[in-house]
Amino acid sequence: MSPSVLLTVNGHTHELSLAPGTLLIDALRTDLALKGTRHGCGEGACGACTVLVNGIAVQSCDIAAAECAGAAIETIESDAAAPVAAAFLEFTAAQCGFCTAGIVMTILAWLRGRPVPDRAELIGKLDELHLCRCGAHARILRVADALVARPVR
Ligand code: FES
Ligand code: FES
Repeated sequence: MSPSVLLTVNGHTHELSLAPGTLLIDALRTDLALKGTRHGCGEGACGACTVLVNGIAVQSCDIAAAECAGAAIETIESDAAAPVAAAFLEFTAAQCGFCTAGIVMTILAWLRGRPVPDRAELIGKLDELHLCRCGAHARILRVADALVARPVR
């Protein structure tokens, strides 16, 4: 029998029976049916699968679910992500949209990071963590600029 793991996702704690080494992305998508977290490259290179673990943007295809036991995990389905996702719609900042959920989570973490978020820091994080081949980059930054003035943190 697989060991049980307690995962707290979007404020709800779940006891899951997971095979050793089960990745966080698979626990979220398969065991918890939270399909908003996307499976892109599956090897830590594209950022589509990004979620927050204790407020830090983490690539969920690159970490075992068991390593996140006891942590606060947030996904695109969280209430906190909703205003950021709504701003993406407002600014038409997704094209195919496949990368968007992960970028929303990185922006959410960035917005919480300091009283006045540093735009250059966000550009660096997006460059480092996310691949978006659809060319939505300028609109994504417009979203970030608009959100800085809004109470989403
Ligand atoms: S699917 Fe996780 S980084 Fe690409
Ligand atoms: S919107 Fe298509 S990959 Fe980013």
